[in-house]
Amino acid sequence: MIKKGIILSGGKGTRMSPLTKAVNKQLLPIYDKPLIYYPLSILMLANIRDILIIVNKGQLGQYKKILPNGDNLGIKISYKEQASPKGLPEAFILGEKFIAEDNVALILGDNFFYGQNLTQQLKKNTTLKKGARIILHKVIKPELYGVAKINSNNKVLHIKEKPKKYISDLAITGLYFFDNNVIKYAKKLKPSKRGELEIVDLINIYKKKKNLSADLIGRGGAWLDTGSIEDFYKTSAFVSAIENRQGFKIACLEEIALNNKWINKGNIQKAIKFYGNCEYSNYLKKLV
Ligand code: G1P
Repeated sequence: MIKKGIILSGGKGTRMSPLTKAVNKQLLPIYDKPLIYYPLSILMLANIRDILIIVNKGQLGQYKKILPNGDNLGIKISYKEQASPKGLPEAFILGEKFIAEDNVALILGDNFFYGQNLTQQLKKNTTLKKGARIILHKVIKPELYGVAKINSNNKVLHIKEKPKKYISDLAITGLYFFDNNVIKYAKKLKPSKRGELEIVDLINIYKKKKNLSADLIGRGGAWLDTGSIEDFYKTSAFVSAIENRQGFKIACLEEIALNNKWINKGNIQKAIKFYGNCEYSNYLKKLV
């Protein structure tokens, strides 16, 4: 069982400057809540309660205002500051102490997932004991992502970071499940041409050892990008359309914690006080 998760929530967010000059990208709004709520909700839906958030040096204070230590959600949140981003696998080097002897999930702070069977699928993937598992989703522009080619049994044949030549339209999403070897393997990596440790190189180590598996998010699920300002608006529009149609909120952390019986109605009352008079609080009021 994977019980620990890391959210990589640093990065300069250069593509979204000037918005990201003073505020970290993951604290900017996707419709009615900060972006970080969405990946955090994914880990919580996967039943992961011990979470490390990696943030940029100097931005910890911003995060602690909104997500102090997890007590309010019945989870444990710890933080680690990153001096300068050196690529995704650095999460496992910075997170070595946190991971200790366990297996671990990694989610990128700017990834958005949604879908009918997602919770079930997430829980299934946390049963990983050995190896690594990647989550794939079909996209129109695979050249923007890490890409995997698979056969009819979902066996991964080939993976490549941002391939210029078409190999497959299955993007490797920013949600990964790893066994404890990930720390050792991450330490072995050398920076790529763009000067970063590459997640695809890390996954390739597992592939070479025949320890890599893949799971797919099908067409009934959504994996959206929040890399640019345009993406922020599109993802916000998606959340707004669903929430205002159904009346259910996506990624309401307190609701997930309450449904999981990690907190009680008293905690929801406290959350309402914390958020103050706002639409999010009105939603929480309906839960109690
Ligand atoms: C990173 C990974 C890439 C993955 C993507 C998912 O890309 O390198 O393999 O598909 O996240 O969001 P980057 O955001 O660094 O361009």
